[in-house]
Amino acid sequence: MNIEQSKQVISGFQPNAVLKGDCVEVMRQFRTCTVDFVLTDPPYLAHYCSRDGRTIANDSDGAWLKPAFVQIFRVLRQDSFCVSFYGWHQADKFITAWREAGFRLAGHLTFTKRYPSAERFLQYQHENAYLLAKGNPPQPTQRIPDVLEWKYSGNKLHPTQKPLCVLTPLIQCFSRPGDLVLDPFCGSGSTLVVAKLQARRFIGIDLNPEYCDIAANRVRSRIA
Ligand SMILES: C[S@@+](CC[C@H](N)C(=O)[O-])C[C@H]1O[C@@H](n2cnc3c(N)ncnc32)[C@H](O)[C@@H]1O
Repeated sequence: MNIEQSKQVISGFQPNAVLKGDCVEVMRQFRTCTVDFVLTDPPYLAHYCSRDGRTIANDSDGAWLKPAFVQIFRVLRQDSFCVSFYGWHQADKFITAWREAGFRLAGHLTFTKRYPSAERFLQYQHENAYLLAKGNPPQPTQRIPDVLEWKYSGNKLHPTQKPLCVLTPLIQCFSRPGDLVLDPFCGSGSTLVVAKLQARRFIGIDLNPEYCDIAANRVRSRIA
């Protein structure tokens, strides 16, 4: 999808789309305050390499971090939320980027795993995300706990594929049916599948054209 088509997408002509490219550049084409909720899983700046040798683009260099969250903040409508996963060992960089973009830290989510995803000084057995507020969003009608259970996704479509059952309560809690949900680091499109299943509109962006194709196929066929 080219830049002109991206502009149409965000203008509402084509609500559901997966856009290929650098999310900072793509989001610059979006109008301000047009997105209702951002749920995203950016690179953790962890030099990640899966057991089968797959890596994540931009996972070693954080030059994208501040510009991406400046754009996320800009495109979100006033008084709304962003939930962003992040890696614990780079928490300082993420928190600085979020605050400099204008976000207020509104909560912290921990997802407990029954298995360690790595072992060194500890058995690393949880994932993290921050709930970030733009302005003063209203309280959700049904609050969710800030400790939730994780289920292994199998990582077949993407080396760090997020489980749909983990994303579902986040979309249900922080957006409403018909809302526009954005994931600017969408990978295999897990956020987009849940958004579609929950009757939200969605836009996903990824740098890697293969993941964009996987995400687009997935939302067409709702592959879990
Ligand atoms: C942690 S993965 C997301 C995985 C996704 N949650 C899933 O369930 O498949 C982060 C993704 O961000 C993408 N990415 C990295 N830098 C990017 C950028 N500047 N713009 C858009 N996508 C980017 C990578 O290609 C990768 O697929």
